[in-house]
Amino acid sequence: SRGSLTDPLVAAIDQGTSSTRFLVFNARTAEVVCQHQVEIKQSFPKEGWVEEDPLEILQSVFECVEHTCDKLNQLNIPTTHIKAIGVTNQRETTLVWNKETGEPLCNAIVWLDLRTQSTVERLINQTPSKSKNHLKSLTGLPISTYFSAVKLRWLLDHVEPVAQATHTHTALFGTVDSWLIWCLTGGRKGGIHCTDVSNASRTLLFNIHTLEWDPDLCSFFEIPMEMLPNVRSSSEIYGYMCLTGGRKGGIHCTDVSNASRTLLFNIHTLEWDPDLCSFFEIPMEMLPNVRSSSEIYGYMCSGPLAGVPISGCLGDQSAALVGQMCLQEGQAKNTYGTGCFLLKNTGTKPVMSEHGLLTTVAYKLGRDHPACYALEGSVAIAGAVVRWLRDNLGIIQTSAEIEKLASSVGSSHGCYFVPAFSGLYAPYWEPSARGIICGLTQFTNRSHLAFAALEAVCFQTREILDAMNQDSGVPLTCLRVDGGMTANSLLMQLQADILAIPVVRPSMSETTALGAAMAAGMADGVCVWKLNQEHSISMETYQPQILPKDGEFRYGRWKAAVQRAMNWET
Ligand code: G3P
Repeated sequence: SRGSLTDPLVAAIDQGTSSTRFLVFNARTAEVVCQHQVEIKQSFPKEGWVEEDPLEILQSVFECVEHTCDKLNQLNIPTTHIKAIGVTNQRETTLVWNKETGEPLCNAIVWLDLRTQSTVERLINQTPSKSKNHLKSLTGLPISTYFSAVKLRWLLDHVEPVAQATHTHTALFGTVDSWLIWCLTGGRKGGIHCTDVSNASRTLLFNIHTLEWDPDLCSFFEIPMEMLPNVRSSSEIYGYMCLTGGRKGGIHCTDVSNASRTLLFNIHTLEWDPDLCSFFEIPMEMLPNVRSSSEIYGYMCSGPLAGVPISGCLGDQSAALVGQMCLQEGQAKNTYGTGCFLLKNTGTKPVMSEHGLLTTVAYKLGRDHPACYALEGSVAIAGAVVRWLRDNLGIIQTSAEIEKLASSVGSSHGCYFVPAFSGLYAPYWEPSARGIICGLTQFTNRSHLAFAALEAVCFQTREILDAMNQDSGVPLTCLRVDGGMTANSLLMQLQADILAIPVVRPSMSETTALGAAMAAGMADGVCVWKLNQEHSISMETYQPQILPKDGEFRYGRWKAAVQRAMNWET
C-alpha cells in the first residue's frame, strides 16, 4: 500500500565517492519520500593520488539534510516523523583528525588512491611468506593499496601533523562513517568515535573471526590501537544528532576576510582593535570571534533532527546487500557506483576465496545478532570511467549522455577499453596495471569509445562473476543489480548479454541508502522497521539477447586486452 502522511520515517546519509545523498524513507512501505544529492570534488594532486576534503564531505551532508528537510516541509510532513538516521559510506577512504580541535589533519585518502604502492611492496616483504595474501586468513584481504591500514601507515610516515598528533595521543583515525558519526554526535564536545563491523573489515586491522581489532595486525602496521574507533554492530544506537546551535550554544564567529571589511579589524595583528572600537563606540563584546577561513567553527544546528538517534552504519556495499534483501546464504547483488562491487552472502561463516575475491564482514544487524559474511569481487573503475570521459576527454557533457552516444553505434567496432586507472582489483590485484584502449582504426569515433567504456564495466563484472562461480561451485542463475549506473538500459542489456544470465534491476535504485535506513530503523530502541515486511519494489529483468558464442568471442578479446594492460611496462 502507499505510505500515508502519518507513517514513521527513517533517513539515510549515503556518502559515496562521487556524491553525498540524504534520503528519507517511509518505514512502512520503504518508499523514498524525498531526497537531495550533492556531487563531491575529487582532487588528483599527483599521478595516482585521489583525495577528498573531509570538511567538504561534512558540509555536503549538512547541505543535503537541509534541502531534504525543506522538501519534507513542502510536503507538509513534520520532520519529527524521522525516527532514526542510518549512515552508509564509501569504504576504506582514510581520515585522521584532531580530537581536541576537531580539525582534519590531512585530506581524506580515497580508496582508489595508488600512492601506497611502495608501502605495499615494503609490507609484503616484511611478511614471513613474502606474499600479498599473508594476512588473508585473519582479514579476508590481500595487502593492497585499497585498504585503510596501508593508507594510514603512509600518513603516519609522510604527514607531519598526523605523526605529531598521534605522538601526543590527540589523533583519531576513521573511515568516512566514523568521521561523520563523530561530527554529527557532537565532535570535540563528546562526539562518538565508532565504526561498524562491515567498515572495520576493510582496514586490514580487523580480525574477521573474533570481530575485534587485532593487536598483531596493529603492530605489523605499527598503528597505535588508541586511535582506532570502537567497533559496534551495524544496527544499534551509536549516539544522537547533536543539539548545538542557535540559542543553545551557537557559535558566534566570523573569518578574517569578513572581519577585515568592518573598519574595526586590525589587519596586521588580525584582531579586533580596541582603539577602532572605541572610535566607533562599539562594545567589543558584541563582536564575533575571528577565526581562520578554513576550520571547523561548530557543528550544524541539526534543528528539527536534533536528538534523532543515529542507529545504522554499514559500508555502502553491505548496505546495498541489505537493501536488496540478499539476507540469505547464496544471494548476491552487484552495485554500479564509482567502482562496481559484486557481493554474495555466505551466511555466518567466512568463506576464503581461491580465485582472487575478498572475504568481508557483510553486516551484523544488532548487538546480539550473528555477523554475516560475504565473498566480494571489487572492480575499481565503473562509473568513474564515464566521469573520466566527461571530465578528462570532454566527449560528453553529462554522465547520462553516454547511453545515447553509445546507442548510436550499437557496438564498439572492435575497440576495447581497459580502464585500469588504479591498477586492477579483483581477480588480479595488480597495482601496476594501467589503462589501455586498443583495437582503434580510422573508423573509430567517440561513440565507439563510449560503447567500449560501457562494455568494460560489463566485462569486469563477468570476470568477478566467473571467479565467484568457481569459488562456490554453484553458478548464479541471475544477477540482481543496483546503483546509479543501472539507470542506463543499454548497460543493463549489455550486461545480460555478456553474462549470459538475466539481470534483474529494482525499480528503486537507491538500495544502498535503503539498507542503511533499514539498519537504523530496526535497531533496539527504535524499532520502526520490520525486516520481513513486504516492500512494494518492482523489478525489471533484462534477458540475454545475443548468441552465447558472440559474447564469448568479445570476452576473449577483452581478456587479451587485460593481459596487455597488466604488462604494459614490459
Ligand atoms: O570500496 C569502495 C566502495 O565502497 C565505494 O563505493 O559506490 O562510491 O563506488 P562507490
